Amino acid sequence: MEAEGSLNDRQENDKRDTTRIAFIGAGNMARSLISGLIASGHAPADICASDPSVEQRNVIEALGVATYAANATAVAGAGVIVAAVKPQVLGAVLKGLTIRGATQLLISIAAGVPISSLEAWTSAKQPIVRCMPNTPALLGVGVTALYANAYVTPDQHASAQQVLEAAGKVVWLTDEAQLDAVTAVSGSGPAYFFYLMEAMIAAAVELGLDRETAMFLTLETAYGAARMARNGDPSPATLRENVTSPGGTTECAISILDNNNVRGGIKQAVVGAARRAQELAEESGDS
Ligand SMILES: NC(=O)c1ccc[n+]([C@@H]2O[C@H](COP(=O)([O-])OP(=O)(O)OC[C@H]3O[C@@H](n4cnc5c(N)ncnc54)[C@H](OP(=O)(O)O)[C@@H]3O)[C@@H](O)[C@H]2O)c1
Repeated sequence: MEAEGSLNDRQENDKRDTTRIAFIGAGNMARSLISGLIASGHAPADICASDPSVEQRNVIEALGVATYAANATAVAGAGVIVAAVKPQVLGAVLKGLTIRGATQLLISIAAGVPISSLEAWTSAKQPIVRCMPNTPALLGVGVTALYANAYVTPDQHASAQQVLEAAGKVVWLTDEAQLDAVTAVSGSGPAYFFYLMEAMIAAAVELGLDRETAMFLTLETAYGAARMARNGDPSPATLRENVTSPGGTTECAISILDNNNVRGGIKQAVVGAARRAQELAEESGDS
């Protein structure tokens, strides 16, 4: 008969296994997800990370989280493995690891790496959640779309959501192919807004404002507009109509944008980015 102490130890270990999160790669995204998890109450003792770089490990250790040079040490005993390395090294990293299968959830945040490749590099029935975060995740204000394969249990689904909510908002997809559209909208999206900011700053300088003032006015306006539009009610279209009085300055500006087919250009840009995301995922699947 098993001693009560050792049974309790084993139950404690099993419980710990499901809540323990191992990050492979301790770079920018891992750091922001780990910081967010700790800020939302996850015990640092239940998180660990691996990275070949001692500098990166030191940064993570400063958060109270154990780190290892060897990926295998980090993933042993973890219920959730977050692959947070660059897409180019992910195949070699996963092929070099033994992942327990059904009891270990693999979360991949690598851009453009399809589930089929992740399964080929682990096992055919490996529970996997593939995510597309965006750069604001580094400040905890990102938005991430997630897609789970058929082997992810409801508990693992909840764990993946908890990990990615540490970096901002999340949305679940029911079709992996939708990740190409997500990449084009929220993945590349911050760059579209930065592009608009650049163009507005340049125009403001041409109108005679100094660069510092042009930058200040543009960035505060972008922030204010995002805050006003953020909950979707009123819609962006209504908000725009509300500030467009007939014969006024905004109407003049919007009609120049329309005459230059800026709306059509944005649509072409987003559609082009989605097509490129699909091509890149196909190329990654071939490797
Ligand atoms: N940053 C974003 O906003 C963003 C947005 C969407 C998706 N993503 C995805 O998130 C992933 C991580 O991006 P990131 O910006 O955090 O990159 P990063 O800062 O370069 O972090 C990757 C880390 O992995 C380490 N690494 C390299 N080879 C390794 C190995 N064999 N085993 C373990 N660790 C290894 C790197 O170390 P060295 O520096 O020494 O090579 C680096 O510290 C990428 O797949 C990217 O596509 C990022």
